[in-house]
Amino acid sequence: MTGSAIAEVPVAETNPALRIDGLTVGYGGVPAVRELDAQVRPGEILALLGPNGAGKTTTLLASVGALPVLSGTITALGEPLDRRVERNARRGVVLVPDSRGVFHRLSVDDNLRLARRKHGPSIADVLDYFPKLGSMRSRRCGTLSGGEQQMLALAKALLCAPKILLIDELSLGLSPIAVEDLLPRLRVIADDQHMAVVLVEQHIELALSIADSAVVLHHGRAALSGAATELRDRRDMVEAAYFGNVGESAGGPAMT
Ligand SMILES: Nc1ncnc2c1ncn2[C@@H]1O[C@H](COP(=O)(O)OP(=O)(O)OP(=O)(O)O)[C@@H](O)[C@H]1O
Ligand SMILES: [Mg+2]
Repeated sequence: MTGSAIAEVPVAETNPALRIDGLTVGYGGVPAVRELDAQVRPGEILALLGPNGAGKTTTLLASVGALPVLSGTITALGEPLDRRVERNARRGVVLVPDSRGVFHRLSVDDNLRLARRKHGPSIADVLDYFPKLGSMRSRRCGTLSGGEQQMLALAKALLCAPKILLIDELSLGLSPIAVEDLLPRLRVIADDQHMAVVLVEQHIELALSIADSAVVLHHGRAALSGAATELRDRRDMVEAAYFGNVGESAGGPAMT
């Protein structure tokens, strides 16, 4: 057997795409997230759960370099996160904000064309995941339903060839049916593209059904974390963590 025929250990597959260690971050020097540890590997989905004001958006913003870290480290694709959002985006760290980031006055096509990157996937490739959008390319974005706009927001993000995709409340304002349509697509995309996904989501059950792992934040701290399958079976603990009641009775926040 020649050296080149020896199977290589896929190092990148075993290392986290995004690794957060002891992250404390906030606004004007006041922490909104404290001592957070989390990681997500290529092809995996991490669900970031928690009540309003728990620190979910803050964690995502810090993870793309949009907020200065007070302490702790964020490592993206094997390197410390850059302080410039654009630079991180070029390396494949891409945020879909809860405001969706679509231009309402422009057509679907123009929205997609603006998001297209020189060496990124083609619009046709991305629309394979959202065939419905393909038939709406000339429509003004403002006339799309909430679910269709979210599909467009996701399609735009995919055109940036993300390796780490951070999504803030994909299902905000959507009907349960639209959410049930959208979230499983995300699972398919993460698998297909071998993409690490951090998903902030209010639909706990659905989020846990497509995620590999989850962290429940409460008042900026991880109240509970573990494998999504385990958390699915322990809805009592997840709900307790939402209210900050995990600890004494459940024997600590981590399940794994
Ligand atoms: N720009 C800001 N300046 C000061 N404080 C902020 C700012 N943005 C958020 N905060 C505070 O930081 C804390 C965490 O907010 P964050 O937006 O991360 O919560 P969240 O979990 O995303 O909540 P929601 O589910 O409502 O979106 C909250 O107490 C919030 O008031
Ligand atoms: Mg938020």
